Amino acid sequence: MTEFIGQQRIKQVLGMSIEAARKRGEPLDHTLFSAPPGLGKTSLAHIIARELGVNLRVTSGPAIERAGDLAAIVSDLDQGDVLFIDEIHRLARVVEEILYPAMEDFELNIVVGKGPGARSMKLAVKPFTMVGATTRSGLLSSPLRDRFGQHYHLDFYGHGELTQIIQRSAHLLDVRIEQDGAAEVGARARGTPRIATGCCGGCATLLKSMPHQW
Ligand SMILES: Nc1ncnc2c1ncn2[C@@H]1O[C@H](COP(=O)(O)OP(=O)(O)OP(=O)(O)O)[C@@H](O)[C@H]1O
Ligand SMILES: [Mg+2]
Repeated sequence: MTEFIGQQRIKQVLGMSIEAARKRGEPLDHTLFSAPPGLGKTSLAHIIARELGVNLRVTSGPAIERAGDLAAIVSDLDQGDVLFIDEIHRLARVVEEILYPAMEDFELNIVVGKGPGARSMKLAVKPFTMVGATTRSGLLSSPLRDRFGQHYHLDFYGHGELTQIIQRSAHLLDVRIEQDGAAEVGARARGTPRIATGCCGGCATLLKSMPHQW
């Protein structure tokens, strides 16, 4: 968490709740992150799993087409694991309905068979933590939103924080950057770490292949 720059209030509250969950030996409360793209939602999901010392299972709203897909993912989780669903506002309604009892009571309601002979079965799953990320929290249905124990909204970053993020990335990539250069890039990053650090792995590789000159 110390490598995650800025968002002090979130780090403080989230850090305390991770610590409390660890001490109680219980899964962390289901956690929702909302923010515009590139502000660190996915990074925080990874940090949570790492600090809890559990597995992270990553998927996204549009990737889960059928209720059965989600049931399979959830029933495969170990005690305390983190299930990260990116773009959670894009989950199909039928999939969402499987999620309610899974999040609330750690139970899956599965329908077996079709037509008049169809039966509903309850299947217990191991207690887990759901971490959802959304760029459009207004599109999340309220029953789904209510099932998250904690909701954090990430703000755009300040100039000083972006400068620090750039310096940290340069260091990780083994690229030398002057303080003034980092500050200049930071000033043009529109408050967004992803813009500050380059858009993708391709940019990172390109930077790394350049001579140490900027
Ligand atoms: N607070 C931070 N400190 C350092 N680096 C950060 C921070 N926030 C984000 N980054 C870096 O910025 C990039 C984008 O972050 P991330 O993928 O977590 O954003 P996101 O909110 O999940 O974006 P999207 O909505 O597009 O999925 C990553 O390379 C990440 O390492
Ligand atoms: Mg993301």
